[in-house]
Amino acid sequence: MYARPVAATAAVLGLGAALFSGPVAQADERGRTAPASAGRYGDPLIIAHRGASCAAPENTLAAVDLADRMGFAWVENDVQRTRDGELVVIHDDTLARTTDVEERFPGRAPWNVRDFTAAEIATLDAGSWFGPTWAGARIPTLEQYLNRVDRNGQKLLLEIKRPELYPGIEKDTLRVLREEGWLDRKHVRHKLVVQSFGADSVKAVHRQRPDVITGFLGTPTVADLPSYAAFTDQINPAASTITADYVASVQRLKGAHGKRLQVHTWTVNDAAGAARVAGFGVDGIITNNPDVVRDTVG
Ligand code: G3P
Ligand code: CA
Repeated sequence: MYARPVAATAAVLGLGAALFSGPVAQADERGRTAPASAGRYGDPLIIAHRGASCAAPENTLAAVDLADRMGFAWVENDVQRTRDGELVVIHDDTLARTTDVEERFPGRAPWNVRDFTAAEIATLDAGSWFGPTWAGARIPTLEQYLNRVDRNGQKLLLEIKRPELYPGIEKDTLRVLREEGWLDRKHVRHKLVVQSFGADSVKAVHRQRPDVITGFLGTPTVADLPSYAAFTDQINPAASTITADYVASVQRLKGAHGKRLQVHTWTVNDAAGAARVAGFGVDGIITNNPDVVRDTVG
C-alpha cells in the first residue's frame, strides 16, 4: 500500500493571496478572512477535513499548516490510541494506507494502530504515500497536533475515531486537552468541538466535561433527534443523507447548551455539492477542498 502516487498539489502552497480576493472580506489578526455579511447562502463555517487534505497528507501537521496558509481557521482530525496509551492523529485503524509500515514492520500485519507503540509510530513516514514533497511527515501525537493548531491560532473539530476499539478514550482525550490548555474558557467556548460516530462516546464526553461543545456524526431519525439534543450541540450527517427538511428539523431544536442545534455536514468536495448543502441552510461544511467550498458559498 506504500508509495501510492498522488498528485501532490504543492502549487497550492503559493495560493494564499489569490484565495482572499473576495469583494467584501475582513481579515482577522492573522490575515484570514470571513465574509463581512451573510452572502447568498448565509455563512456556513468551512472546516478543513483532516486538515487541507486535498493538498497535503491528511491528519499531519503539514495539513494543519497548509489549511492555515490557505486561510482556514477550522480543521478536523481523527484521534486513536497506541498500544502504550498515547493518543495519535490518524483516520484509519490500521497504519497501512498512509504510512510505510508494511515495509518497516513486515511481520506485524494487519498493522493496527493499537498494536504499535507511540515510539514505533513516530518513526513511520506518513507523507510519501501522498507525494515525494511530503516525505518524512509524521503521524502526530494529539499533544503535538493541539500545540500546532494553537500556535497557528486555529480551531479544532476533534473526532474520537472508533471509540469501541479504545475503552476510556474519552477520558484520555479530555486529559490531553486539559494538559495542553484546551479546556480553558477561551478554547471551550470558541475553539473546540469534540465529535464521534459513537453516541456513547459523545455522551461520555458530555458527562465528563459538560462545558465542551459536542457533535454526533450520523443522521438520527427526526423522531430521535430530541434524545440526541440532550447530550450534543451538533448533528453532523453525511451530505448524501440530508434534505432541507431534515436540516430544518435539527435546527428547530435546542442542543445540550441551550442553543440552536447545528448541522455540520461532510464530506463536500465540489462546488455543486457545496451549493446544495448551503442551500439547505447547514451551519458548517466539512471538506477536503475548502478553497472550492469557499469560492462557492463564501
Ligand atoms: O468530520 C466528519 C468526517 O470526518 C467523518 O468521516 O470517515 O472522514 O472520519 P471520516
Ligand atoms: Ca473524521
